[in-house]
Amino acid sequence: MNPNKALWEKGDFTRIAETMRESGEALVKRIGVSKGLKVLDLGCGDGTTAIPAAKLGADVLGVDIASNLVEAGNRRARGLGLANCRFQEGDATNLHQLADRSFDLVVSIFGAMFAPKPLDVARETTRVTRPGGRIVMGNWIPNDPTLVAQILKISSAYTPPPPEGFVSPMTWGIESHVIERFARAGLPAERISFKRDTFTFNFPGAPSAFVDEFRKYYGPTMNAFEAAERNGKAADLQKELEELFTRQNQSPRQDATSIPATFLRVTVAV
Ligand SMILES: C[S@@+](CC[C@H](N)C(=O)[O-])C[C@H]1O[C@@H](n2cnc3c(N)ncnc32)[C@H](O)[C@@H]1O
Repeated sequence: MNPNKALWEKGDFTRIAETMRESGEALVKRIGVSKGLKVLDLGCGDGTTAIPAAKLGADVLGVDIASNLVEAGNRRARGLGLANCRFQEGDATNLHQLADRSFDLVVSIFGAMFAPKPLDVARETTRVTRPGGRIVMGNWIPNDPTLVAQILKISSAYTPPPPEGFVSPMTWGIESHVIERFARAGLPAERISFKRDTFTFNFPGAPSAFVDEFRKYYGPTMNAFEAAERNGKAADLQKELEELFTRQNQSPRQDATSIPATFLRVTVAV
């Protein structure tokens, strides 16, 4: 089994995505999704951005490597009566089922950054976008002090080192790497712009309960806990994460969690 696919099918990302819905909706409005726009949401999960884009009238295809999330996305779209939104399985490094120049907008919010071959991601997203169209990526930033970069940093300290040649997904949060990857796909630096943006995670429970959701349902954290348990370090990992979540919580209530996280928004004019 492809380890990238196995990682994301392992848990149930829907449990985390449910805390990201408001920010997904706000983001698609900010990036200018309009009626009739042909949108590809790559690494779409269960539709945090795909569904609100379809609600704005866009014609949306969500592609994700995890079959459980594709199923969940199609279920959500059906439940909402959105005939203009469908989800299918696919790999951001090889979109062979999609024709050249077939989308006005390719969106990938914390999605394609997790695919193992970044040059292939840049090449494939460029290929399927029509000239005059856009690619918008949301990428977590390495060493950023906010939530997700810190969860991934803490988790990786408890996980065995990755195989030789592994390129960290976090390198998509470094502007020079993004520029180099799209340059290799034929798009020069002048076509690329960067903006710091924010996604807020809203969870109806205390920060420690939110950590439990990551422990039970978020692939990278599940792997970290499995490795930590083997080394007798699970309690240390739990403590580090609880401290992080509690420190970052901005909710005035003790039984609720609201944590903003900074990401790099990349816009490429194709
Ligand atoms: C952190 S989740 C984000 C999901 C969604 N964009 C959201 O914001 O809710 C990462 C997603 O990327 C998907 N993914 C990881 N590697 C992928 C690949 N190579 N091709 C397509 N999807 C991939 C995962 O299955 C998962 O749904």
